[in-house]
Amino acid sequence: MKSLPAKFTERIQNQFPGYWQNLIDALNSEPPVSIRINKNKLSQIPTKYKQVPWSSSGIYLPERPLFTLDPLFHAGVYYPQEAGSMVIEYIAHKLSDKFEQPPKYILDAASAPGGKTLILSDIFAQSIIFANEIISKRANILTDNIAKWGAENVVITNNDTAHYHQLEGVFDIVLLDAPCSGEGMFRKDMNARNEWSVENTSLCVERQSDILQNILPLIKENGYLIYSTCTFNPDENEQLMQKVLPAKGFEFVPFDELQEFGIEKVENELGYQFLPGKVESEGFFLSVWKNTNPNQRKENKKKSKKDINLSVKLNFPLQKDKKTYLLNDEIYAIPKDLDESLLINLNAKYAGVKLGKLIKNKFKPAAESVFYNSFKNQFPIIELAYTNAIQYLKGNTNFPLPEKTTKGYYTVTYKNHPLGLIHSLGNRFNNLYPKPWRIKMHIPENQKENFLF
Ligand SMILES: C[S@@+](CC[C@H](N)C(=O)[O-])C[C@H]1O[C@@H](n2cnc3c(N)ncnc32)[C@H](O)[C@@H]1O
Repeated sequence: MKSLPAKFTERIQNQFPGYWQNLIDALNSEPPVSIRINKNKLSQIPTKYKQVPWSSSGIYLPERPLFTLDPLFHAGVYYPQEAGSMVIEYIAHKLSDKFEQPPKYILDAASAPGGKTLILSDIFAQSIIFANEIISKRANILTDNIAKWGAENVVITNNDTAHYHQLEGVFDIVLLDAPCSGEGMFRKDMNARNEWSVENTSLCVERQSDILQNILPLIKENGYLIYSTCTFNPDENEQLMQKVLPAKGFEFVPFDELQEFGIEKVENELGYQFLPGKVESEGFFLSVWKNTNPNQRKENKKKSKKDINLSVKLNFPLQKDKKTYLLNDEIYAIPKDLDESLLINLNAKYAGVKLGKLIKNKFKPAAESVFYNSFKNQFPIIELAYTNAIQYLKGNTNFPLPEKTTKGYYTVTYKNHPLGLIHSLGNRFNNLYPKPWRIKMHIPENQKENFLF
């Protein structure tokens, strides 16, 4: 294991005089493994695993399995997530109690690969979540994770946060899980150790300040900012909070009860930190603020050009709370309440439920559509046993379909959880599992079905 950067060790000796050695020992030990269960797909949390204390859907696993070989991972039944990050679920619950009506719009400003967006989408199921990611490749990974989870209320954009300036005063809650120096990931991610330098941490502070300047005006009066990082560096955490937020009319929102879990209040009392060794998680920092500035929102008079002639005729009914939306030639079902004019000038990549597209007037369903509870029954189901499910996920067609499978689309499932689509031609079939999602690794011949639940 690469040793910790000397300047980092020097700093934490001053920062945590009574704890630095324990912190170093913890950072050089094995990281805990945790996953978050998708309660929309698995109603019962498996009781044989230890629960993450601050999350009702998080569990620890005794060791890291090869997730790739578990079809339920591909079906979005759970998401491997660092335990500390799951505190966003706790905060989201507490904030939702503060609203009389469900918040309408929530922004996750730096959201790939999407673990925290999934939490927001679960807890604020009545709200519309904008998940933004600046790096295009990462926005693609984000999209896959959101779709597989079956989150129906998420709009994904691939933008610099500066591009959101027209959405001033729109959001009830903005989460900034900021790009940071990653010190809290030093035992999980050796790259974080390699890339760390004093100069880099200063660059991170600059970037975090810039993003904050962009996103603070987007928050409504009495709306909330949730700021988090995975670093111990006070300059990126509590010091930055102190420097920026009170001057902008934001008030700190305390969650002192988090200390019951072993999570510590930071020195200037403007946030909470997870220290490995004290809590079963990687390093994490969290600070929540309320906007006390009077509402500045001017009604957007511009109408979206896209909302004209958009209604698309489908062969199956849409629920009452949804409408169709055309984006990059694909048909989506989006929440009826979403004002499409908010998307003008944003690079939207995905919105709500991807249904499919019309090719020569024929509807071709999207692979993603099977993951959503509202649409998973659009085609008849073929349940696959483990070995065949793995073959399906590899993109193969070397397994038999039930006798009398007629022509048409079918959803294939494993343990009743949809994995994807096939198109049966009667005597053979096409595997419609998208190439980028396919399992590429070699499967050991005697691979057993020995997974989590
Ligand atoms: C800590 S990660 C987010 C993790 C994510 N919230 C999750 O829980 O899965 C920070 C993200 O910020 C993105 N980022 C980097 N520079 C940015 C910038 N200038 N503005 C917005 N996001 C940025 C990174 O690409 C990265 O995906």
